[in-house]
Amino acid sequence: MLNFSYHSPTKILFGKDMEFEVGKEVANYGKKILLHYGGGSIKRIGLYDRVIDSLKKEGIEYIELPGVQPNPRLKLVRKGIEICKEEDIDLILAVGGGSVVDSAKAIGIGAKYDGDVWELFEKKAVPKDTIPVGVILTLPATGSETSNSTVVTNEETKVKVSVRSEIVRPAFAILNPETTYSLPKEQTSAGVSDIMAHIFERYFTNTRNVDLTDRLCEGTLRTLIKYAPIVLKEPNNYAARAEIMWTGTIAHNGILGLGREEDWASHKIGHEISAMYDTTHGVTLSIIFPAWMKYVYKNNVERFAQFAVRVFDVEADFNNPEVVALEGIRRLEEFFRSIGLPTTFKEAGIPTDKIDEMARRCISNSGGDSVGFFVKLYEKDVLEIYKLA
Ligand code: NZQ
Ligand code: ZN
Repeated sequence: MLNFSYHSPTKILFGKDMEFEVGKEVANYGKKILLHYGGGSIKRIGLYDRVIDSLKKEGIEYIELPGVQPNPRLKLVRKGIEICKEEDIDLILAVGGGSVVDSAKAIGIGAKYDGDVWELFEKKAVPKDTIPVGVILTLPATGSETSNSTVVTNEETKVKVSVRSEIVRPAFAILNPETTYSLPKEQTSAGVSDIMAHIFERYFTNTRNVDLTDRLCEGTLRTLIKYAPIVLKEPNNYAARAEIMWTGTIAHNGILGLGREEDWASHKIGHEISAMYDTTHGVTLSIIFPAWMKYVYKNNVERFAQFAVRVFDVEADFNNPEVVALEGIRRLEEFFRSIGLPTTFKEAGIPTDKIDEMARRCISNSGGDSVGFFVKLYEKDVLEIYKLA
């Protein structure tokens, strides 16, 4: 196990009716907020009205900035920054999915930065301060409600990249599983794929003696595998929605990666698909992860065999660990398909004629000459993974 320091400061309010607490939470930070949301789902489910009531009760003044698109865009982030600077905003309240949260985080650091916010994404500068961000989450997937990153797309250059900084962890996050009942099946499934991916990026490591975090990862994955089919069949099943929502936070608040080297190649390989085709994030991961696994498993067959046995109940066979490892990958693909997710470009209806360019951009956007740590992947390797997918 490697040395680590860990600080996850986000206050979490979890459960039924918790959105009614938002006014009180916001009041801890000031009296004037930017209310940031997406294309209207929060109005359709009545959440918007409940939030406004709670804010009014505490005398909070709010300026609205709706219109966040999935794969959030730089243009709206710049608009939000302008409003925050002009209006002297005390807190940004993100109500919605990960895209809204990420957009709010980017606005928060951009408003406290003298130059243009994109410089922070280009790694030309490091964020030093932020306007606090509060979250009411409606889509368990990204873990952005407590995570240390924000991912934004520059729609002009088709570059989708992240800022990673402890500064961007939200001040508080309100999670009411009931707000996820209205999710379309595709979003629920894509969310599950993203949550699993956040665990895989940590689980497949070369660091030894990380048994506790291995077991935590495996338990979280098994929870998803058990409850995903249930929420798809019974969208209003509170108990099952609650399990999925909480795994989303646990998977990406950092705890499952403590003391070990993490990978993150597959996310970067997937981001290029979203940047090129505006594909849903979780869908890029159900396509890329099986291909990545097939490409890298030989680096540590035992770890993949452990995954197969402990997560997918494949029968252990110590004489044939490779057979066990490959069966685990096959069962993962089968699981993705069973919850309606594609596992190849073809199944997703995404063309493959631009994979050379995507591999090139994946490496150039990484700021180095490779991505990933479990196995360092160079441009030719990324291209092979796109071909396998
Ligand atoms: O815009 P509205 O109308 O709200 O509709 C949204 C959107 O169309 C809808 N939706 C959300 N909650 C709903 C709902 N529809 C019905 N009922 C509800 N309760 O779902 C659609 C997708 O929303 P979005 O926020 O884009 O999805 P998600 O939460 O998956 O966020 C994806 C973004 O987060 C980034 C991804 O790359 C992608 O850009 N990520 C952020 C991370 C982070 N900051 O730590 C880590 C992740 O790995 C990921 O990269
Ligand atoms: Zn993700």
